[in-house]
Amino acid sequence: MSSSKSDRPKIALKRRVEAGAEVATEVATEVATKPAAPSKFRPRLGDRRAGKPRPAMPAEVIGQQDKPAAKPRKPQPEGAPSEKRPQPRSDAPRPPREHGQSSHPRRRPTVEPATAARQRFFVSCPRGLEDELARELAEIGAGDQMPARGGVIFLGDMALAWKVNLWSRLAIRVLWQVGEGHYRGEDDLYEAAMGVDWPGLFDVSRSIAVTTVGKASPLKSLNFVTLRIKDAVCDRFRAAVGERPSVDTRDPQVPITLFLSEERFTLYLDLSGSPLNRRGYRVEAAAAPLNENLAAGLLKLSGWTPGTPLYDPMMGGGTILLEAALMALNIAPGIQRHFAFENLASFDMIEWQRLRKNAMAQASEPHPLPLFGSDIDPLMVRATGLNLKAAGVFDCVRLMEADFLNVDPPMPTGLIVSNPPYGVRLGSEDDLVAFYRAVGDNLKQHFPGWTACMISGDPEFPKSIGLSANRRTPLFNGPLECRLYEYRLVAGSNR
Ligand SMILES: C[S@@+](CC[C@H](N)C(=O)[O-])C[C@H]1O[C@@H](n2cnc3c(N)ncnc32)[C@H](O)[C@@H]1O
Repeated sequence: MSSSKSDRPKIALKRRVEAGAEVATEVATEVATKPAAPSKFRPRLGDRRAGKPRPAMPAEVIGQQDKPAAKPRKPQPEGAPSEKRPQPRSDAPRPPREHGQSSHPRRRPTVEPATAARQRFFVSCPRGLEDELARELAEIGAGDQMPARGGVIFLGDMALAWKVNLWSRLAIRVLWQVGEGHYRGEDDLYEAAMGVDWPGLFDVSRSIAVTTVGKASPLKSLNFVTLRIKDAVCDRFRAAVGERPSVDTRDPQVPITLFLSEERFTLYLDLSGSPLNRRGYRVEAAAAPLNENLAAGLLKLSGWTPGTPLYDPMMGGGTILLEAALMALNIAPGIQRHFAFENLASFDMIEWQRLRKNAMAQASEPHPLPLFGSDIDPLMVRATGLNLKAAGVFDCVRLMEADFLNVDPPMPTGLIVSNPPYGVRLGSEDDLVAFYRAVGDNLKQHFPGWTACMISGDPEFPKSIGLSANRRTPLFNGPLECRLYEYRLVAGSNR
């Protein structure tokens, strides 16, 4: 960038669409469009007056750890999820193995039909993270799996599905398949739903809600289908016990999902309830927070492993750092929350407590880690601090209020994983372009030896940053198509 430090304009965006909406998947469409972010989240060029010392992140909290950045993985082709069965990574902290569980996922070309002990589950995730999810599920023990768009199918028993709920950092939901077949009209679907033994699955005192998701379904009204499925569930209960469950569309104890493709239907019981990215620790949201499962996915895609210094210089509410701390300490992401499967007849409290106790025993005590975060907005530094405290990992991360364009690296080498501001610009294009250029300049000049992984949905970002990406991974932040750009910063390179 050629402009002098003092005359750079303050970026003023009139409207931005930020990352952070709920995730849309094939089986659970939960798209929440975020309102335009308040001005405090606008990218700012900050104060780069000549002569002003560049604050450096103190490193003493982490001792003298000075490990090289994670070895970047081979570039992967863009496009559909891999058909290859993923293998667990050897370097990631692992969820505990349960008694009798093999350390290697079994290899099968296709998933076999479910039996009583081997149920079929669909695990949804942010699109673009399917391969990472498959790898993670294999690490958890759900290796008998098949790739799918927006998620992974696996076979296993109910306890394995609970364990996936407890341990998956990337999943949005775990859905248990309770019915499946061909359909032509609403009556076929009513009959199919009547054929499910709902009273055997949960007590009539539990509230229900049905969600229908259609992909190329020829049916005219999905709302009408939803009502027919609800009727079938209630009719089946009335016939069996003389009463029907109540409906609670806002917070059902037993959420039921119907997925319709052009000719086939699948009925699921949603074992998760509220989406799994709601870990139960976020107390202060940033204006445009990443979902926790996407943040965890960025860390996986970046190749970060605990021990490698990690820095998010535009951390907002600190989601990436928080997920990193949970990973490094091997804290099960679901340990603080409840799940819808606790409301089902198949729920076994003793087995569940065993899984939870096992998880708690595997977690390390919080201690200083090579994790660093900063933001130009003091409110965001405060928000991150509160979120880290709520998760019990405040001592793991070093925080600072700083303009990224005016900060020195906290360690000689490491990995940046960040979600810079971006958006739809109405008139202030030059400001964002200038910001991205300044980010690129700063990385090039002050972060040689580092690798920077940045997620952006703004096509202007890769053009303006002035660095050539070693890898671009397509993925979705809710409905927004993004790329994770990886830049390996070598002294004197790029531009
Ligand atoms: C998209 S938000 C990050 C959200 C975050 N990933 C989360 O999950 O909460 C972008 C952040 O960049 C910060 N930011 C903007 N300009 C900055 C600058 N020059 N230096 C440091 N932070 C900046 C904003 O304050 C905002 O918190």
